[in-house]
Amino acid sequence: MFPPPRSFAPALLDAPLVRHARASSEKFTQSSGRGAPPRCRKGRMDMKEKIEALARQFQQELEGAGTSDAVEKLRVAYLGRKGSVTQLLKGLKEVEAQQKKELGQHINMLKKTVEDKLSQQVEAIRRAEEQRMVEAAEQYDVTLPVGSGAGSYHPITIVQRQLEEIFASMGFTIEDYKEIVTDYECFEAVNIPKDHPARDMQDTYYLENGQLLKTHTSAAQNAIMRKYGPPLRAIFPGRCFRNEALDASHENTFFQMEGMMIDKDISISNLIYFMKTMLSQVFERDISVRLRPGFFPFVEPGFELDISCLICGGEGCSTCKGSGWIELCPCGMIHPNVLKAGGIDPEEYTGFAFGLGLTRLVMMKYGVKDIRDLNSGNLKALSQFTHE
Ligand code: PHE
Repeated sequence: MFPPPRSFAPALLDAPLVRHARASSEKFTQSSGRGAPPRCRKGRMDMKEKIEALARQFQQELEGAGTSDAVEKLRVAYLGRKGSVTQLLKGLKEVEAQQKKELGQHINMLKKTVEDKLSQQVEAIRRAEEQRMVEAAEQYDVTLPVGSGAGSYHPITIVQRQLEEIFASMGFTIEDYKEIVTDYECFEAVNIPKDHPARDMQDTYYLENGQLLKTHTSAAQNAIMRKYGPPLRAIFPGRCFRNEALDASHENTFFQMEGMMIDKDISISNLIYFMKTMLSQVFERDISVRLRPGFFPFVEPGFELDISCLICGGEGCSTCKGSGWIELCPCGMIHPNVLKAGGIDPEEYTGFAFGLGLTRLVMMKYGVKDIRDLNSGNLKALSQFTHE
């Protein structure tokens, strides 16, 4: 680029150029004049040397700038408002007219070189970093045959399908239903009028258009009664949403599986029979169930169905909080108002409904301790439960 300066005086590099030029000229004015170069000649030489020295200094510093931060500092030190190259350019004002052009060209060349080298350095650092990342990344052999880690169904899907098979074998229709529903479907049709305190139990996500994310699968009861009419047997699994504070056992998004059976002379003993049969098949062992009274506006009477704790076999442990029972499935006999809203005559027909906590059942079946694992999309966490 530039030839190395003949004499290199680093101290001069720091001195402002203008003062330097003046000092030189003062010196020559005071001198005897013997052999001294003309004023302008001396001024030009000093500045030229300074440009060359600066170029050399830049080259050295650039070699030491191994990070983009260091390069940026260098850019400010040379090209910034108070940078050395900028100062040189400013100093041109003081230089006599004949030298201005040549010196100006030199400084501009230096400026251009500094700019180019800085961007080359930034690019080199970026490429080196990229290379480091590529080398550090996990290596795959794309020619290997696909092994057993090809993925699996989500644990919820697995259990849902198992339940669907069991209920289908008992004559139940399987229905799918929307996730966005009306206030009527979710609440009013199931005997929860506006301002009913039962709404507080389901902290609801309302949409701007007045619709809402269904808080329970019961939101489909009305539509299914109307679709099939009595007698009917249907299950309808679905994703539900409630504004819950998240922790190991609460999620704002969870799955339920609702079931209804409506016919003449349906009683609670039918309900107990279906639930016990289904649960024993899911858990592949004989499951004891018990009913406790529970309040839900859409059933009368309403129950909480508990199963004997699978962890301790009913002895009492921390999972069942020492009681030997686990709450799994709210249920009850469908309220006459709900049958009426669904176009079914409650004098003629009765029925049961249950709202199985599908997410909870999956947690019980696979021993999932943290409900958040289920929606995490974390394959490592989920694959523990799906490798049978
Ligand atoms: N829908 C109720 C809930 O989510 C559960 C339920 C369903 C209760 C059917 C009784 C009958 O809380």
